Amino acid sequence: MKRNVAVLGCQWGDEGKGKIVDLLAAEADIIARSQGGANAGHTIIVGDTKYVLHLIPSGIIHPGKICYIGNGVVIDPFGLKEELDFLAEKGIDYTGRLFVSAAANLVLPYHKLIDAVEERNRGTESIGTTMRGIGPAYVDKVARNGIRVADLFAPDRLRNRLEYQLKIKSVYLAGSDDERANINLTFEKLQELVPLFKELARDVSLELTRAIKNGKSILFEGAQGTMLDVDLGTYPYATSSNTTVGGVLTGLGLGPKAIEEVVGVVKAYTTRVGAGPFPTELVDRTGEKLRDIGDEFGATTGRPRRCGWLDLVALRHAVRINGVDSIAVTKLDVLDSFSEIKICTGYSLNGEDLSEVPLDLAELCHVKPVYTSMDGWNSDTTGITKFDDLSENARDYLRYIADDLEVKIRIVSTGAKRQETILV
Ligand code: GDP
Ligand code: IMO
Ligand code: MG
Repeated sequence: MKRNVAVLGCQWGDEGKGKIVDLLAAEADIIARSQGGANAGHTIIVGDTKYVLHLIPSGIIHPGKICYIGNGVVIDPFGLKEELDFLAEKGIDYTGRLFVSAAANLVLPYHKLIDAVEERNRGTESIGTTMRGIGPAYVDKVARNGIRVADLFAPDRLRNRLEYQLKIKSVYLAGSDDERANINLTFEKLQELVPLFKELARDVSLELTRAIKNGKSILFEGAQGTMLDVDLGTYPYATSSNTTVGGVLTGLGLGPKAIEEVVGVVKAYTTRVGAGPFPTELVDRTGEKLRDIGDEFGATTGRPRRCGWLDLVALRHAVRINGVDSIAVTKLDVLDSFSEIKICTGYSLNGEDLSEVPLDLAELCHVKPVYTSMDGWNSDTTGITKFDDLSENARDYLRYIADDLEVKIRIVSTGAKRQETILV
């Protein structure tokens, strides 16, 4: 039976959502992104070809699948054009199967400039953003100063709204010789993209609702992860959107029953890129080993990712908030050569045991992880496609996670390639 499935990151992003979405896209008719922007970097490897997508849903790699970018996404129009050119270079024909919401806000060059200035101003408290202008674009949206896709089709309105930015952002833009502060140039460059956006712009809420009524199945592709959610993550060390399940609905204009199943993507250990609390972080040789074997470098910025053991406390938070039905555990193979594997089962704060993530950042910064230790499996799981072919210790590790989180394991990923997967 076809179902509408949401695939959401349960940690701090980079869980392997791109790979899982690509895998599940084979069964779906439509793949939709609902939040975030080009801060996302979703990697898909098919055969010898590697694709890194930032804005375009990972389903685009499958010929014939329809892809939507919803109103909740902040779209960098120039970035989108670059990504389309990249797909064309790789021989992927996207014509007539990628659409964007006319109500989506745009990320414009001045947002990236402001992102950089704000990060500088934060000094030692900088977030370590991706510098893709995400925060400033969402600020404009919420302040009702944003420029949306539909504004591209009304040149006078576009010009007025761009000129208005000079007034409200004078502290950033006035007197700047940075090209990104040049509103006239931005207007001119946007004109070149108008024909493209005329092709792409749709009422995504309406089209998806009709598709659901017509029995089509939709795969919702989350970006970032639960712990980066602006409300429920490690604020202020978070992104600026709701990365959790609610964001799927508001970001696409759908009712609550549109999602029939939630698949949480869980990396077999934890990574985080950028600043902020990370209780199980390993700043030692074990952490370096995870980074080396897992090739943990950002798909968007190339920054080294911080690495640590699996954190069940953070995962309980993600499972609860998203109503996760089942999980996809990725990168199991990265743990193959660790003789001891630790799992964080609780936090300790000033002698008190915690089983849930404290909402006060100051507390989260001071918790100490409480670990349970397991023997590793010391065998190569790369490319294994059957659960029973995993060694006993690897199966025990997975069962321990599923039992604690009270979820089913639906997928285990044993390598970056599409076929390196166990469907449980
Ligand atoms: P996303 O942002 O959640 O889509 O994840 P990223 O693409 O940023 O990072 C995940 C990285 O892990 C990518 O380089 C993937 O190619 C890779 N990857 C995904 N699944 C596996 C796996 O099971 N094993 C290994 N070794 N690599 C994987
Ligand atoms: P995917 O979809 C990992 C992090 C940044 C920074 C914080 C805020 O590939 O999992 P932003 O640019 O959003 O204002 O940065 O959020 N971040 C991500 N980390 N994966 C992502 O996306 C991320 N998108 C943003 O590193 O700490
Ligand atoms: Mg990523």
